[in-house]
Amino acid sequence: MQVTTSSGKYSAKHYPDNIKDWKKEGNYFYFYTTETILEVRIISDKIVRFRYAADGNFQRDFSYAVSDRLEESPVNFGLHEFEENFEIYTEALRIYISRDDLRLTITDLEGCIINQDELGFHWQYYLQKGGKIVYCSKQIQEDECFFGMGDKPTDLNLHGKRMENFGTDAYGFQKDTDPLYRNIPFYYGLHRGKAYGIFFDNTFRTIFDFGKERDNATSFWARGGEMNYYFIYGPELLKVAEGYTSITGTAELPPLWALGYQQCRWSYYPDTRVKEIAAEFRKREIPCDVIHLDIDYMEGFRCFTWSKEGFPEPAGLIKELAAQGFKVVVIIDPGIKVDPDYSIYKQGIQNNYFCKRADGALMEGDVWPGKCVFPDYTNPEVRKWWAGLFKELVDVGVRGVWNDMNEPAVFEMGTFPEDVRHDYDGEAVSHRKAHNVYGHLMSKATAAGMKKYLMPNRPFVISRSCYAGAQRWTSFWTGDNVSSWDHLWLASVQAQRMAVSGISFVGSDIGGFIGEPDGELYVRWIQLAVFHPLMRTHSASNETGFNQEPWSFGTEYEAVAKKFIQLRYSLLPYLYTTFWQYSRFGTPMLRPLAFVAQHDKQTYDRSHEFMLGDSLLISHVSEQGMKEKEIYLPEGQWYYYFNDQMYTGGQVIKIATPLDEMPLFVKAGAVIPNYPKIQHVDERNTEEMMLHVYYSTEEYSSSLYEDAGDHYGYKNGQYNDIRFKQRSEKSHFALRKKYFGQYNAAYRKHNISVHGLPFKAKEYVLDGNVVKLTPANFVGNVVNIVVERKFENLIIR
Ligand code: GLC
Repeated sequence: MQVTTSSGKYSAKHYPDNIKDWKKEGNYFYFYTTETILEVRIISDKIVRFRYAADGNFQRDFSYAVSDRLEESPVNFGLHEFEENFEIYTEALRIYISRDDLRLTITDLEGCIINQDELGFHWQYYLQKGGKIVYCSKQIQEDECFFGMGDKPTDLNLHGKRMENFGTDAYGFQKDTDPLYRNIPFYYGLHRGKAYGIFFDNTFRTIFDFGKERDNATSFWARGGEMNYYFIYGPELLKVAEGYTSITGTAELPPLWALGYQQCRWSYYPDTRVKEIAAEFRKREIPCDVIHLDIDYMEGFRCFTWSKEGFPEPAGLIKELAAQGFKVVVIIDPGIKVDPDYSIYKQGIQNNYFCKRADGALMEGDVWPGKCVFPDYTNPEVRKWWAGLFKELVDVGVRGVWNDMNEPAVFEMGTFPEDVRHDYDGEAVSHRKAHNVYGHLMSKATAAGMKKYLMPNRPFVISRSCYAGAQRWTSFWTGDNVSSWDHLWLASVQAQRMAVSGISFVGSDIGGFIGEPDGELYVRWIQLAVFHPLMRTHSASNETGFNQEPWSFGTEYEAVAKKFIQLRYSLLPYLYTTFWQYSRFGTPMLRPLAFVAQHDKQTYDRSHEFMLGDSLLISHVSEQGMKEKEIYLPEGQWYYYFNDQMYTGGQVIKIATPLDEMPLFVKAGAVIPNYPKIQHVDERNTEEMMLHVYYSTEEYSSSLYEDAGDHYGYKNGQYNDIRFKQRSEKSHFALRKKYFGQYNAAYRKHNISVHGLPFKAKEYVLDGNVVKLTPANFVGNVVNIVVERKFENLIIR
């Protein structure tokens, strides 16, 4: 045991000494040193948890991140004893544990080092505040890149940076502001083309240093709790993402309308203004599914009330909007106004549901309504009560809830002081341990309530703060951003980073929340947001009277905004399919280039390009007046979306960026399903589903997932999983289709458009039947045909 000196605030640092004993219990191994015990839990051949009892006592094994559905898959594993170390092996990994000091070396089966302790686990007593500060440090491997960590507004590759997780109301954050709203202690390492992930499941303030302090070491530590981390092996980055999601849980499918365009403002007030906005969308034929109501819909900012003056008849309003195809989402904050006549306040006081300071006084602080108290969402009984409060909102017709200010944010104080007490599901802890899960559990309770009362419909929740795993119940927006070109890039980077941190259902306030974009910035932002799973315009324009709707910037910009919102709607089947992959397998919907071409080092530091799903590559137009943009295309053939020009990947290309286009590419071979023109999602499923197919001589697989777009029938098999395989030749095009599923989709036909045929097509053969093509089948170089939905083989020659 090696010990350094004490500072009074912290004890000396302790390092484990040699292993005295070990044992195996099922898939758990324990290694005992003089003070410390290491527990190794084999979850699957690629996922292993390491947990340390610093001075011999494990804490409660409890997590707000880990899904109840985490399954341990039985694997072949075992242990070998060697002179210098122990080796635990699985079908994919070898874990060496040094007999001298408990340090770990993890290799793949070829013996390639994937991850290796530097100092490894060490710790010190936190004399001033109690508990221990627990550390782990790892050696940085040659050219190692790091990714992940939630919403950090910085370059995708985190090498050389240090960052913290401590949920913060970061109003007007900028590049490199840290910490931000969300707390996701999960990162990826990538070196020698092989990737792994580390998820440090600890809700205290956590700090990660990727070679900033010492350039040979990555370390992570927490000011309390346990060293408890999951090691997830890829070697593919996307497999690590899926492994992480297998631990922290998958998202349910949202209602399809939540993937439509959403319009928000602080605040649309009163009800007549909301109606005007809705009417404007329909009059201008700009598709939209959702209108959000910000805090002014309430009576004096009291949650679960309606302003008597501004919204005297909420049920009537919502019904009127529903008739035009709009859903209403309302904001609910955690701050409950201190007001003895207010029923929610009274219930909370009577039942002891609000957070208290160390000595028993209520935790009081100012937020929008003035002095407030705050539910302790870490108490399961409070969560149940809170969930129950949504019944009335659902009864008046509300279909979604927006949770805000849940870092928790408190004016002047910033957040709660550390002495605030929390139940923490029966553990009784201070705010130091509960801070990072406050918003996480608020949105969990909200989602539980909405789900219960909306049944059989699917709920929609959007929230601001969380801990790892919140994808199981809520979506997110990136917070209070600014109307600037820098923030357009930040929005792209944050959404990509969130997606690879388990949370794909994310978007930014289009146009920026603070400040006023001009028309150009606004439409460039719309263009990017078409490819973000959550697409919502929001702005804090109450005081200035500034408008931020798609038509607010004049006819030229309106036309472009409309064109791209329409593009969003036409791509909905593709987006929904991508959501299904995410929901089913945990595959991130947004994929940074490194995640799709990890053998290609040129992709590692690129943040301007990303993929949505398997087949679309996007880059936003990133500067005012930009005429062309340099784009890196990964290996393969790519079609430029707006004119079908073909590009070869593995190089930087230049693409012109007129206002009504943007760098958008389709992978050759892909089938991109499209809806015809609609104003909102309930107008879909008319006659036919369009399929755009991009000719390729390389075999390429695509899929189309479809279900009712709401309800839970899909959980009982009411969906179709349609697989396409294209493998064409120089002289003919060939597409095969396989149909799995029992969902009876409304459309009967596919309208197929084949792009990029290199030969003059004369006829097509559909399941053996030959049909001659006529001039009507050609639009430019694109061949259009309409066929029965259930075809299996299509050849064009
Ligand atoms: C916070 C939110 C913002 C909202 C405002 C008023 O700043 O981040 O989106 O409009 O509060 O509710």
